[in-house]
Amino acid sequence: MVNVIGLGYIGLPTALMMASHGVEVVGTNHSQGKVNMLKAGKTTFKEEGLDELFQAALEGGIKFTTEYQVADVYIVSVQTPYDKFTKKVEMKYVTAAIGDVLKVAPKGAIIVVESTVSPGSINKYVRPYVEQKGFVIGSDIHLVHAPERIIPGNMIYELLHNDRTIGADDPEIGEKIKALYATFCGGNIVVTDIKTAEMKYF
Ligand SMILES: NC(=O)c1ccc[n+]([C@@H]2O[C@H](COP(=O)([O-])OP(=O)(O)OC[C@H]3O[C@@H](n4cnc5c(N)ncnc54)[C@H](O)[C@@H]3O)[C@@H](O)[C@H]2O)c1
Repeated sequence: MVNVIGLGYIGLPTALMMASHGVEVVGTNHSQGKVNMLKAGKTTFKEEGLDELFQAALEGGIKFTTEYQVADVYIVSVQTPYDKFTKKVEMKYVTAAIGDVLKVAPKGAIIVVESTVSPGSINKYVRPYVEQKGFVIGSDIHLVHAPERIIPGNMIYELLHNDRTIGADDPEIGEKIKALYATFCGGNIVVTDIKTAEMKYF
């Protein structure tokens, strides 16, 4: 089962894509209002083709909640705003979400950071954060970075057709996540290491 964390402009369509292509998906957002809207069958923003995708995902059994789930794979797609004063991408939302994931994640779960981060951020912020919480990366938890590169406006088409880069410490884990994205993505999906995946975005 896949738990998508952060149902915004990127996380919601990603969750819907997977659910409409045969993947068991639960979407988690900490905003009760947003979850209520989704549960009531309403999308939270407008985008060409989104309503149809939403219907297909509902038929695929997608669920929405404010709770973090016990899952095999977590896709973290929370915001990473650029701070123009420090000239840095803000990582606090990513680490907060990962902190909550770690409270429920079973041994061996894969955390995919889909949020945009600047090169080196996974090693600098995420890896030490997970280790400080007492988790051994590579056995307790696996880390993957799968940046989303769509440009707003033509998002559904881009999700289906853009190439993707999957960065993982362990190539076998990278291949698992590639297979997950390949359920809906017809573009070329390259598996590499995390640092290279971070660089590819920029
Ligand atoms: N918007 C774009 O066009 C675009 C394109 C490519 C990449 N990205 C990247 O994708 C990532 C997500 O961007 P977005 O535009 O979807 O952001 P967004 O602000 O639309 O959505 C983020 C969602 O995450 C939720 N959230 C935040 N912290 C949470 C937590 N701890 N637990 C549960 N939910 C939480 C928020 O309530 C919000 O609904 C960012 O890193 C962004 O840079 C965005």
